[in-house]
Amino acid sequence: MPVAVLVVVLVTVPAPTAVSPFLHGPSVADVRMPSRPGTDGLLVRDAGEHDIAAMAAIYDDAVRTSVATFDLEARGAAYLTGKLAHVGSGNHLLVAELAGDVVGYALSAPFRERPAYRATKEVSVYLTARARGRGIGGRLYEELLGRLDADPAVHTQMAVIALPNDASEALHRRLGFERVGVLREVGHKLGRYVDTAWWQRLPVAHVQPAAERRGGGPR
Ligand SMILES: CC(C)(COP(=O)(O)OP(=O)(O)OC[C@H]1O[C@@H](n2cnc3c(N)ncnc32)[C@H](O)[C@@H]1OP(=O)(O)O)[C@@H](O)C(=O)NCCC(=O)NCCS
Repeated sequence: MPVAVLVVVLVTVPAPTAVSPFLHGPSVADVRMPSRPGTDGLLVRDAGEHDIAAMAAIYDDAVRTSVATFDLEARGAAYLTGKLAHVGSGNHLLVAELAGDVVGYALSAPFRERPAYRATKEVSVYLTARARGRGIGGRLYEELLGRLDADPAVHTQMAVIALPNDASEALHRRLGFERVGVLREVGHKLGRYVDTAWWQRLPVAHVQPAAERRGGGPR
């Protein structure tokens, strides 16, 4: 009888997957959305130099018209040329292309430069105004976060969202980010003070108990 029970347990254990060395909650595969109307033929791919002008136009429109970024002046091509130059392990720059046009991009980059932050990446995503609301931000992030999950050198991901931004907060929540705090009135743009929400996506298998984390906080 004990032998029979043991056999049942062994048979029902799921086979291990090779997707991620970590146990995110949820994984990107768990929350992948089906294609939405208006996105037929959408291509998510690595950005190249020929995409810089389109990405710069998208970013600079956000600079001029929104608080989504705290830049106050258009950055032009130089900003994204710099991001492209630093693409490598954990640092990605992806574009979404629809009918031959770049309609958005997403990137991951160092959260802070000090070396103890090296396994922490900050992610962001920007779309043209006409591409929003069709799930394209999600498609970019599914590819980006899938790459980060598969990279043993990346531990946790941060997103800093100026408020209000319901679409961005919903997007990050769906993809497994948790809202860990709000900094009040840290930005001043378009005539008002702006809060930022800090969102974090942590591999749950690696969360340290609070007692182990206590101590002075680095800056
Ligand atoms: C934020 C952004 C990237 C989202 O991408 P998107 O493709 O438009 O988003 P989606 O269509 O996938 O919608 C994302 C979620 O927000 C929800 N949403 C969209 N617009 C919303 C709104 N106005 N209010 C509330 N929820 C909204 C959607 O229902 C969806 O929820 P779900 O994933 O639970 O179904 C895009 O809107 C954008 O580029 N905005 C300007 C730049 C910006 O704010 N970037 C983020 C900087 S942190």
